[in-house]
Amino acid sequence: MKALTPTLLLFSSALAAVYNREIEKDASVLILGGGVTGVIAARTLHERGHDNFIVVDARGELGGRMQTESIGPPGRNFTVEQGPNWVQGTQTGNGPKNPILTLAEKHGVKTQFNDLFGSLSFFDFNGAFNFTDVFNDEDDDFTSLTVSAGTRLQKGLLDLNARSGYSLVGSNPLSHTAQTSEYYLFDWEYAQTPEESSWIGSSLNNNFTFEPEMGGFSEDNLLCIDQRGFKTIIQAEAAEFLKPSQLMLNSTVKTIEYSTSGVKVTLTNGKTLSADYVLVTFSVGVLQNSDVSFSPALPDWKQEAIQSITMATYTKIFLQFPDVFWFDTEMGLYADLERGKYPVWQSLDHKDFLPGSGILFVTVTGDYSKRVEALSDEQVQSEALAVLQLMFPNTSIPEPTAFFFPRWHSNPLFRGSYSNMPAAFVPTHQDNLRATVSDRLWFAGEATSFKYYGFLHGAYFEGLNVTNKLADCIEMGGCTGLPHVEEIKQ
Ligand SMILES: Cc1cc2nc3c(=O)[nH]c(=O)nc-3n(C[C@H](O)[C@H](O)[C@H](O)COP(=O)(O)OP(=O)(O)OC[C@H]3O[C@@H](n4cnc5c(N)ncnc54)[C@H](O)[C@@H]3O)c2cc1C
Ligand SMILES: *[C@@H]1O[C@H](CO)[C@@H](O)[C@H](O)[C@H]1NC(C)=O
Ligand SMILES: *[C@@H]1O[C@H](CO)[C@@H](O)[C@H](O)[C@H]1NC(C)=O
Ligand SMILES: *[C@@H]1O[C@H](CO)[C@@H](O)[C@H](O)[C@H]1NC(C)=O
Ligand SMILES: *[C@@H]1O[C@H](CO)[C@@H](O)[C@H](O)[C@H]1NC(C)=O
Ligand SMILES: *[C@@H]1O[C@H](CO)[C@@H](O)[C@H](O)[C@H]1NC(C)=O
Ligand SMILES: *[C@@H]1O[C@H](CO)[C@@H](O)[C@H](O)[C@H]1NC(C)=O
Repeated sequence: MKALTPTLLLFSSALAAVYNREIEKDASVLILGGGVTGVIAARTLHERGHDNFIVVDARGELGGRMQTESIGPPGRNFTVEQGPNWVQGTQTGNGPKNPILTLAEKHGVKTQFNDLFGSLSFFDFNGAFNFTDVFNDEDDDFTSLTVSAGTRLQKGLLDLNARSGYSLVGSNPLSHTAQTSEYYLFDWEYAQTPEESSWIGSSLNNNFTFEPEMGGFSEDNLLCIDQRGFKTIIQAEAAEFLKPSQLMLNSTVKTIEYSTSGVKVTLTNGKTLSADYVLVTFSVGVLQNSDVSFSPALPDWKQEAIQSITMATYTKIFLQFPDVFWFDTEMGLYADLERGKYPVWQSLDHKDFLPGSGILFVTVTGDYSKRVEALSDEQVQSEALAVLQLMFPNTSIPEPTAFFFPRWHSNPLFRGSYSNMPAAFVPTHQDNLRATVSDRLWFAGEATSFKYYGFLHGAYFEGLNVTNKLADCIEMGGCTGLPHVEEIKQ
């Protein structure tokens, strides 16, 4: 090759500068969503030395589903958690430790052991009614369900729904107390019924988090009671590395255009951002709806993956009263004739949690969540008070001093609370949900986690692992990314 003359050299470098300006992008990577997945993805890129990224979120703060609300009148107001509240699974001996616990400890976020199975009072529509024995039988049935799912898996047998699983292990809850006990052990975790849930998926999901024998952390749940909010774990983590120029809040994404040479994201305010790569961390509920559009349309295998997973809803309904008139245990279980009607009550005005707060909350899930979201606050409050009156027939229930519940299912930024797997569970669908499209369009989130879908630690590990693959790809100067299966067959 002939040496270039100085003039030619000057000319060619000027040309290159013009060319580079033309193709100059806003960032190497756009991380769409600033929840646990997005923040851990950003931290991972930072740690790998790739600081040319921007985290984009529609909300005014980081945390995603980690959201608080201040309830109660001035002087008696408290922070409550609208979304996640527990570190689920801690650590057993020197076994694996839940990274969410590590973050809570690192940032001094206060948590407290919640005795979900040992500190429980029982009620039905005639008031206090001790159905401990029925509850214990249902607890055994849940264990049988997870054990038999393991046998099924080993034999390579087809997945069924968890209702079929329960029936096959001889569990057929008929009474309202048995059905409510089953609800507490099953629906209260998966936010859907056994009929709607995968037998193998729910059992694996339980084991990987709660069963140390199967690589799980532990069966303990720690309730966050920090008045700065549980979201502090992720906001304080982000504060350690994220620069203001790497963050765009109050920025709602409308369209994502992609090709093998790059991506362009358009916000609802008309602003556009271009990059080499985009990592989408929106909930699968958001992807299932038309809130964000992709151009070109996502391939069939990706659309199938998105629609193959359910976005379930879990709704906490908070009430504050002048004084405690309810149970002195941590939890209260109410058995109605209608399964899932205001069943799980939790006292925050308890010596271990927020004493003096006057706060009690009740959780509903699944279709019942959608039902209450369609009602007015006044209607839901009066239904909840009517149930309390049944639980405490001899008490005159006072007017609440505060009432609040979030509508996760209707929220266009979430469209539900967390993912659940329907029968039949095909883990390849999760691989396809995570898989890269056209080299440039990447996905991660709680729902792409095979082991920990639905959990904070699922979001954490996906943010970490997918982003490490993305960083590998950047360092290679491009790659096809995470693989997919074109057609999932019988
Ligand atoms: C009620 C409830 C209770 C829960 N309880 C627990 C619990 O106790 N323990 C536990 O471990 N897990 C729990 N979870 C699950 C946990 O919250 C999630 O698994 C986790 O927070 C998901 O994080 P993520 O980053 O994947 O998604 P997200 O937190 O949903 O992050 C995605 C981000 O994308 C943003 N976004 C969406 N659409 C757009 C758009 N168009 N433009 C720009 N930004 C957009 C959102 O604002 C959001 O910040 C609960 C969840 C809920 C809702
Ligand atoms: C986001 O919007 C809210 C409400 O309009 C505003 O209070 C807040 O300052 C904004 N935050 C950022 C970072 O722009
Ligand atoms: C209580 O309300 C005040 C004023 O509205 C607010 O500044 C404070 O942060 C709230 N406290 C909690 C714990 O939510
Ligand atoms: C409820 O019943 C169980 C088992 O029959 C018993 O051990 C327990 O003490 C009872 N609890 C109360 C509060 O009476
Ligand atoms: C769940 O864990 C139990 C051990 O407690 C095991 O017997 C069973 O096989 C596991 N189930 C699955 C689906 O892995
Ligand atoms: C409520 O009062 C009635 C009548 O005084 C009494 O029989 C019943 O045991 C009381 N119930 C409870 C739950 O205290
Ligand atoms: C994350 O990636 C590592 C390394 O590839 C792997 O060993 C681990 O199982 C992955 N973790 C999860 C939760 O997927």
